[in-house]
Amino acid sequence: MTMRRSLLPCLLFAFAVAPTACSSSRAADDSSLLDTTVTPNVLRDLGFTALAPAPTANANLVSLGRDLFYEARLAPKTAESRGCFSCHGTKTYGVNPTIVRRRNVPTVFNLNGQKAFYWDGRAATLEVQATMAMTNPDEMGHPNVASADAALAAIAPDYKARFKDAFGDEAVSLDRAATSIAAYEKQLVTPAPIDDALTTGNTILTAKQEDGASTFAALCSTCHNGPSLRGDGLRKGRSYQAVPDLGRFDVTGNDADKFLFAVPGLRNVEKTAPYFHDGSAATLKDAITYMAENQAQALLSPEDVENIAEFLKTLTGSVPEIAAAKP
Ligand code: HEC
Ligand code: HEC
Repeated sequence: MTMRRSLLPCLLFAFAVAPTACSSSRAADDSSLLDTTVTPNVLRDLGFTALAPAPTANANLVSLGRDLFYEARLAPKTAESRGCFSCHGTKTYGVNPTIVRRRNVPTVFNLNGQKAFYWDGRAATLEVQATMAMTNPDEMGHPNVASADAALAAIAPDYKARFKDAFGDEAVSLDRAATSIAAYEKQLVTPAPIDDALTTGNTILTAKQEDGASTFAALCSTCHNGPSLRGDGLRKGRSYQAVPDLGRFDVTGNDADKFLFAVPGLRNVEKTAPYFHDGSAATLKDAITYMAENQAQALLSPEDVENIAEFLKTLTGSVPEIAAAKP
């Protein structure tokens, strides 16, 4: 494997000294991560672990959840809003790039085991999120819970037997609908070849991907870690809009939470443009460049950016049959 040129002097001095300081090749600490060959074991030590398989679940519960996820009649009768699937297309990696809302549509893939949902982390579980989705104006858009209940009651005759199979009796409720939708979402896991590598320790990365992995490990893994590289907690996000989205502040009202957003996962990121909470980065390279400059205070060469993108493409996984089976 090729040895990376050292990025460290560039990081330390780029803003203090002339940018040309970055072009000097090797210097600084030879034991630095940036100069080591980044194997899957190194990535694992930095917190990038293999994706767990989908949990074993009650098959009736999952299949009910899947049908409700695709149930257009759960939405209010407006032209725009259909079902969950209309924004979180399961054949398009859990997003729909044509939908523009106040916030960018995040994927519903690989969310099992995460601790907070939405760009501002306001839902603690997938079950709570699925309930909130019904009345969120950016999602299903019911004006209130009564309207959501009425939509569910209207389709109850078609689903009673399914609820019985899933829950033991025929009671149809929003809570149960949310539980089943969440159970379906937990099945939407997309393992990739990188997961075998993380498990076995055998590298499958090309030289470019390895180079990108090394830069990623040094600059990005403090925030993007765990099996989805999603990370816990919230960090300062981009705030370019004319009317800025205040992020977490809208939930807590604490000044310290202004502009804080969840660190999104990076599984299948190659397929889920546009990027950021406001969809303001059109391409993966734009997103990487912005992140390096603003989150890691690093000026990257176009080659570095490209190599990180090549590394991130190794996170593109295979869509499970349960996701591919519906429209
Ligand atoms: C009209 C488009 C639209 C529809 C319909 C929709 N969503 Fe969403 N979904 C969004 C947007 C936009 C967000 C981000 C909102 C935010 O962060 O404030 C989101 C966020 C989510 C998240 C959080 C993902 C994460 O990474 O934190 C989940 C899970 C989700 N939706 C599931 C659902 C389910 C289940 C339904 C159906 C009950 C649904 N959505 C219907 C647009 C939609
Ligand atoms: C200090 C924490 C932090 C660091 C370091 C960091 N990120 Fe991020 N990343 C975030 C946050 C927060 C967001 C969401 C920002 C927003 O939406 O405004 C994000 C978003 C992204 C996105 C967009 C994903 C999507 O689906 O919209 C990509 C791609 C990304 N980061 C890649 C990187 C890369 C590559 C690096 C290293 C060069 C990096 N990040 C370093 C916190 C971080």
